[in-house]
Amino acid sequence: MIDGSITTTDEWRQLASEALRPLWLRDLFATDPMRADAFTIDAVDLTIDFSKNLITRDIIDKLVVVAEVAGLPDAAAAMIEGAHINSTEDRAVLHTALRLPSSEPLTVDGQNVTADVHQVLERMTDFAGRVRSGAWRGATGAPIATVVNIGIGGSDLGPKMAYRALRPYVKEGLEARFVSNVDPSDLTDQLLDLDPATTLFVVASKTFSTIETISNATAARRWMTEQLGDDAVAKHFVAVSTNAERVSAFGIDTANMFEFWDWVGGRYSFDSAIGLPLMIAIGPVNFRQMLDGFHRMDEHFLSTPLARNGPALAALIGILYRNLHGLVSYAVLPYAQHLDRFPAYLQQLDMESNGKRVRLDGRPVDYDTGPIVWGEPGTNGQHAFYQLLHQGTTVVPADFIGFVNGTDDIGHQHDLLIANMFAQAEALAFGKTSTEVRADGVDEALVEHKTFVGNRPSTTIMAPRLTPSVLGQLVAFYEHKVFTQGVIWGINSFDQWGVELGKVLATAIGLELTSDSEPELSHDSSTNALIRRYRAGRRTDRAG
Ligand code: F6P
Repeated sequence: MIDGSITTTDEWRQLASEALRPLWLRDLFATDPMRADAFTIDAVDLTIDFSKNLITRDIIDKLVVVAEVAGLPDAAAAMIEGAHINSTEDRAVLHTALRLPSSEPLTVDGQNVTADVHQVLERMTDFAGRVRSGAWRGATGAPIATVVNIGIGGSDLGPKMAYRALRPYVKEGLEARFVSNVDPSDLTDQLLDLDPATTLFVVASKTFSTIETISNATAARRWMTEQLGDDAVAKHFVAVSTNAERVSAFGIDTANMFEFWDWVGGRYSFDSAIGLPLMIAIGPVNFRQMLDGFHRMDEHFLSTPLARNGPALAALIGILYRNLHGLVSYAVLPYAQHLDRFPAYLQQLDMESNGKRVRLDGRPVDYDTGPIVWGEPGTNGQHAFYQLLHQGTTVVPADFIGFVNGTDDIGHQHDLLIANMFAQAEALAFGKTSTEVRADGVDEALVEHKTFVGNRPSTTIMAPRLTPSVLGQLVAFYEHKVFTQGVIWGINSFDQWGVELGKVLATAIGLELTSDSEPELSHDSSTNALIRRYRAGRRTDRAG
């Protein structure tokens, strides 16, 4: 590990002088017929083609040296051994322990965490089995048909993304829904057609103090008890949390609480008990296959030399673009409808982890950190924002994600989908020169409009099929990518102080919006005026 900024090291300077030389993908491919092979690696079941990036072997070698100088191997070892690498919260960071086989004990802070993890997994398995078989009955004796997860951020995005990704594995007759927004429309819309007798709420909150979740859970409990009486809570509410005291204060019996631990970050948690609704929906066997996929990618990350290490290479190429090319965003473009929430999931994983402006020691960074992550499933994005990707003035590196075998097929639609993915990566990389456009006989006035400069980088990630294991591998791939970048930037990827200020202000403003008497406001003039306008509008609305 280095003391200070990575950008002041000789190794970084050597990287910068190499990486800033202009490179043209057309030339790189023309001069090296083996380029695709040279820059394609296998990481468990994922085949990752990095060749359409602005890299040479020399750049990769220098990036790898930078990672070593930054202490990546030691940092990874510290993480999986349970060192308190989340220093601002004095916590271990052990999501990798959530997928350790029971045969691999890990003792951290005097506790065998593998045993704890498997004990909870067993409880989840038992409960999920009872809900799935109909042995768990609601207050009227009816079996459960719908599981409604109430949570937000890491307690929502992961299970929701995975539920949608693994739809084909969901048991017939069982459905999961997800409520996250404090906007009452979210809960109202989800409950509209539900029968309380067949509905099970999973209240998921690491802290059990998140205002959105507690508000929605309180409203859901009212919806339930108004229809089935107070006793129904015991049969229709379970909790997933680290905070037994608050769960109990809320009125959920801790016998119906599934535990996880402070060493699981919210955005790294859907392979913990936070995955309960997913396990109920897809079944314990599939859930464990997903955990196995996570674990196999962990092993790949921890044991593969950096030059052929999937997550590490993805991270290093991301560093190249962010810090040396000055690119601010990257797009995640899954060519799989079932991964429609994957970009949103990655937004929290990446942006809440690496959107930091100070180093571990509290000193401000003097280089850029986490990029803006965004994306939509192909081919929808093609008809929305790809124009900018191809011809805009901003270069956006992209990850294309696709599967050899589709989950569903109608005619040759899956082939067409993947043809589009390959075509987009090819078009971005190689473009179409004005000479080629002219050769098509295009009117001279339109030549520049129809020219594609190309040289726009992308990575293509493919797997045989979107299975539970492959989903676990994909998520672990990005977790380790984010971790690697955090290590090189010297930041804490595991805290999230940046979400606190808004929460505190919202609590105060909430009281000002609802107080009976006109509140004395001491915000800035804009916020004061907004509050007054809102209060006046609410009064008029109520009076009307
Ligand atoms: O957005 C801030 C945050 O703390 C996330 O990190 C977390 O995933 C989310 O809120 C929900 O927190 P909890 O699970 O404690 O309700």
